[in-house]
Amino acid sequence: MHEPAVTAAELTRRIAERSARVGIIGQGYVGLPLAVEFARVGFTVTGFDTSLDHVTTLNAGRSHTPDVPDETLRARLDAGRYQATTDLSALAECDAVIICVPTPLRKSKDPDISFVTAAAQEAAAHFRPAQLVILESTTYPGTTQELLAPMFEARGARPGVDCFLAFSPERIDPANPTFAVKDIPKVVGGLTPECASLTALLYRQIVGRVVTVSSPRVAELAKLYENVFRNVNIAIAKELAVMCRHLGVKTGRHRLGPSPDHHTHDRERQGRDVPPGAPRALLLRALRGARGRDRPVDRSPRGDAHRARGRIRQGIRSLLGVRREPAGNPLAMLSASGSSR
Ligand SMILES: NC(=O)c1ccc[n+]([C@@H]2O[C@H](COP(=O)([O-])OP(=O)(O)OC[C@H]3O[C@@H](n4cnc5c(N)ncnc54)[C@H](O)[C@@H]3O)[C@@H](O)[C@H]2O)c1
Repeated sequence: MHEPAVTAAELTRRIAERSARVGIIGQGYVGLPLAVEFARVGFTVTGFDTSLDHVTTLNAGRSHTPDVPDETLRARLDAGRYQATTDLSALAECDAVIICVPTPLRKSKDPDISFVTAAAQEAAAHFRPAQLVILESTTYPGTTQELLAPMFEARGARPGVDCFLAFSPERIDPANPTFAVKDIPKVVGGLTPECASLTALLYRQIVGRVVTVSSPRVAELAKLYENVFRNVNIAIAKELAVMCRHLGVKTGRHRLGPSPDHHTHDRERQGRDVPPGAPRALLLRALRGARGRDRPVDRSPRGDAHRARGRIRQGIRSLLGVRREPAGNPLAMLSASGSSR
């Protein structure tokens, strides 16, 4: 490998001065708002996508996500701060490359990492020394270190010396009018301290709070933990919404929290993060390589559901002030609660 043309110090300067060129692979619900935000604060951004349709409409100033109005996209295009392309060889011109491609589930319910693999291979193929490469796609713990790093090492790049690798999960809530990209704290885990500090510096240019964790694996796990937490909250909200409906309490009007329309609203807002079963599938994917007989996670879906139900029942018992619950569904607890007081 030749001597680095751009040093880490030069990369730091370019990021801090916002003269760095940022490339974002995947211009969907996650990648496009991120690209437009970096362009808004002064970076020159290239949005890479394999879909020619997407690229053509974006360059014509038509957005496909509710978080980026057409006028905003046009303003960035007119200012020369943003451009979309299918030409992945232009990755070589970027100082920082961020990967935002999908991670759907296969029919078998196994996570499909092929988009991440393909995008990372492109980034590695067009890598140039002292580039910062960040993965944002929701994925299994270990992806950055076990899948991405070897691709760059195979090209002679040394992580933390001439190649800076990190994971920073995307946490966007599409069409949420209160929390946009700039309002959502970023979690960052770098392969080395230098990888983490360059990544944190880049995100600090667009978001108010950046939390650095000890490794990419921790950041990858944090995202799955957040998704599981959200799924459990949605399950509790739905249980309580059913009860409220039976009690004649209009939760939406009184802002009591769980809205019976929660899911409809979610769909309308086009919340499209990984499907509900995906965090579990991604965790199991990571555990497949773990050693030892004691698996920290019960692999049966029934085990998960049983524990979740237990916690919901416990929460409802404490809300109602009852020590014991009658057999049957949680609604039966409500009818019994009066006599227990
Ligand atoms: N949308 C959300 O609400 C949300 C929230 C948090 C995290 N995430 C995660 O972020 C990631 C991206 O999700 P999304 O909703 O933006 O997906 P998306 O389907 O909206 O967009 C992905 C884009 O990547 C492009 N693409 C696919 N493979 C490519 C490749 N090899 N090179 C270049 N472009 C490629 C596709 O053409 C598409 O335009 C996923 O891992 C998802 O789980 C999504």
